[in-house]
Amino acid sequence: MIPFFPPDLFEADREVMLKILYELGTSPEQRFILGESTAMLEQEIADLTGARHVIACGSGTGALTLAVHAAGIGPGDEVVVPAFCCQPVASTVANLGGTVVFADVDPLTMVMDPDHAESLITSRTRAIMPAHVFSIMADMPRYRRMAERHGVALIEDAAVAQGAVLDGRQAGCWGDLGVVSFFQVKAFGTAGEGGMVFTDDPDLATIVRQLRNHGQDGKHRFLHHRIGYNSRFDEVLARFQSHRLPGFAERLERRARIADYYSERFSEFTGRGLVPPPKGRNGRCYYVYSLLVERREDLRAYLTERQIGTHIYYPVPLPLQPAFSAFATPGESWPNASLVSARNLAIPIWPHLTDEQVEYIADSVCEFFE
Ligand SMILES: Cc1ncc(COP(=O)(O)O)c(C=O)c1O
Repeated sequence: MIPFFPPDLFEADREVMLKILYELGTSPEQRFILGESTAMLEQEIADLTGARHVIACGSGTGALTLAVHAAGIGPGDEVVVPAFCCQPVASTVANLGGTVVFADVDPLTMVMDPDHAESLITSRTRAIMPAHVFSIMADMPRYRRMAERHGVALIEDAAVAQGAVLDGRQAGCWGDLGVVSFFQVKAFGTAGEGGMVFTDDPDLATIVRQLRNHGQDGKHRFLHHRIGYNSRFDEVLARFQSHRLPGFAERLERRARIADYYSERFSEFTGRGLVPPPKGRNGRCYYVYSLLVERREDLRAYLTERQIGTHIYYPVPLPLQPAFSAFATPGESWPNASLVSARNLAIPIWPHLTDEQVEYIADSVCEFFE
């Protein structure tokens, strides 16, 4: 069986993890959150990405919460988010009392459609929040210009796109605030939970740093400058991520090569019931390789029979979820979000897949369409 979610992501790092646990667990400081290792990882990621301020926190959702809060979103403020995405793009806004406004997505790339997003901007709009999806970054140059033109904040959800580069600029560094996630299966996932906020703005950085630790400034204990959260980062995981960082570029490259190979193999079926992600490297992230397939359930069953794990992301668009019904006006529709919800099927793209496995997966998909 080739699993979609492999259980052995950190197989090569077992000994290192035990060593980190032992060293931190027996160190005289007994510091397990927001210590030197977290600060070091933040600096390493800042050096790598060019972000002026990098703030590590409890999860990708935590990072998005801190970003939305720091952007000043509250009751009466509208935030434009994609209708087809992971739910934190909507829940973080709603949890702060903001109004979620759902924009439809592009039917081929699955990222938020800039034309539709712009048509939804009103005098109440406070931010737009494009998210990169699966293997494709949103059109950030266009969103940057849009945000400036309308005087709204740009929050970039790069949870799935760490390490991706568009026009020479790293994912997460296009927005006033950008976020990444360290959830296990993400490109730079970890052995637990974590995330980061990126910003070039020193004032926003100060706010985010305070918000992640109950509004404190890191110097004066029990002095609360603002009402915040517990979204602190774990020292064990910080050390683990620093250990994994040197191999990150190589793992990303391996994912990209697998994607190149798949896209090459699948191109002959484009328009014959299959839409593979567009080829290329600019603005691509390869977190997940997702096909759009008319006969999705049949292909899924075919691959399952061949012992190939697949995954369907977001089978119901966000505005059609009971949780977000308050933000969906009756009669309103998001046709492309509904279409890609019904058609997307992700196939394995792990860096440690062997060439034989990759070939076998591609052969199996091609056989189905032949
Ligand atoms: C687009 C997007 N945003 C936010 C998140 C939240 O990240 P986390 O799971 O680390 O809370 C995810 C996680 O899957 C995501 O895919």
